[in-house]
Amino acid sequence: MYGVGAVGTLIAKFLLEKEGVEIVGAVDTAKDKVGKDLGDVLGLGRKLTIKVTDDADLLLRQAKPDVAIHATSSFLKDTYSQIAAIVENGVNVVSTCEELSYPYITDRKLAEKLDLLAKRHDVTVLGTGINPGFLMDTLVITLTAPCQKIEKIEATRVMNAATRRLPFQKKIGAGLTPREFKKKIENKQITGHVGLEQSISMIADALAWKLDRIVGEPVEPVMTKKAVGSDNIKVKAGNVAGLRQKAKGIMKGKEIIVLDFQAYIGAEEEYDAVAITGIPNVKQKIHPCVHGDLGTISMVVNAIPKVINAQAGLVTMKDLPPPSAAIEDMRKYVSL
Ligand SMILES: NC(=O)c1ccc[n+]([C@@H]2O[C@H](COP(=O)([O-])OP(=O)(O)OC[C@H]3O[C@@H](n4cnc5c(N)ncnc54)[C@H](OP(=O)(O)O)[C@@H]3O)[C@@H](O)[C@H]2O)c1
Repeated sequence: MYGVGAVGTLIAKFLLEKEGVEIVGAVDTAKDKVGKDLGDVLGLGRKLTIKVTDDADLLLRQAKPDVAIHATSSFLKDTYSQIAAIVENGVNVVSTCEELSYPYITDRKLAEKLDLLAKRHDVTVLGTGINPGFLMDTLVITLTAPCQKIEKIEATRVMNAATRRLPFQKKIGAGLTPREFKKKIENKQITGHVGLEQSISMIADALAWKLDRIVGEPVEPVMTKKAVGSDNIKVKAGNVAGLRQKAKGIMKGKEIIVLDFQAYIGAEEEYDAVAITGIPNVKQKIHPCVHGDLGTISMVVNAIPKVINAQAGLVTMKDLPPPSAAIEDMRKYVSL
């Protein structure tokens, strides 16, 4: 485990329940975690006799895991050196880093460097999660399979953020006044959702579409008319409950891929919808939307055998076999 924050903790707890997989070490730089037993950090009420360390290199050399589950940051520039160090130790990587889901749009040179490094060390690197990683890209790509022609692709995700983890609620500005929200977005203290550009690029790449450009619309706060909240955050009437973000892939002057992401506390109708206008039209709606945290944990864990089995290099979800659940003993999915 590399990063035992909110998501890393949930992934570790799930891995502990799974057959055919063993956690052999944990890395985190947070002062309140380093040196503690992983069982205590996860709040299990029992020891796992695994000490959380901030020396990733030493741990990787000693433990020699088959794969590192990496969950520290959304941005490639922050995670590159962490992931490169894992790769240099000959270890596969499954990361929740959003920009890694399609890193060629983020920083092509860095992505190519990571790809070469992974090939040199004969390991595979994948960025995945529920979104980016599945709902607004891999699932959309799969739904294009029965189409002969496609004029437009639209994907919408609407979720009630009341049931999400605290870092996510903070990332979408829940609880802020409209003025605080504007300021924090401007000075990048809150990022909103990261990954729409990556999802659009992955879809376009799968369809061999050369986009003119990708346009990210300004992040809009969603204000609540009545007080709403969750165990973590209370939002007063008139304050920000979350946000709405849209991004568009433009080809030959037309909006050909449109992604609409809405996450706010109190959203009444939660859904994931994909509408493909083409021959034939394809419309799909998942109701209520897939739970973001549960979905991310599953996507990451289910990707482990596919990453171990994959060719060496930096891969994206569209390069792997169709995603599927690894619900049985994990060893059943690994080809030797
Ligand atoms: N693709 C998806 O669908 C998806 C879904 C969920 C989450 N994510 C992303 O996954 C990442 C993790 O999410 P989270 O909610 O778990 O965040 P979090 O609670 O902030 O956890 C991150 C943990 O990593 C630690 N860390 C930071 N830099 C480190 C480093 N260099 N080496 C080792 N540990 C380090 C942090 O310590 P400090 O607290 O001291 O910094 C923290 O304990 C986020 O970027 C999130 O956006 C993606």
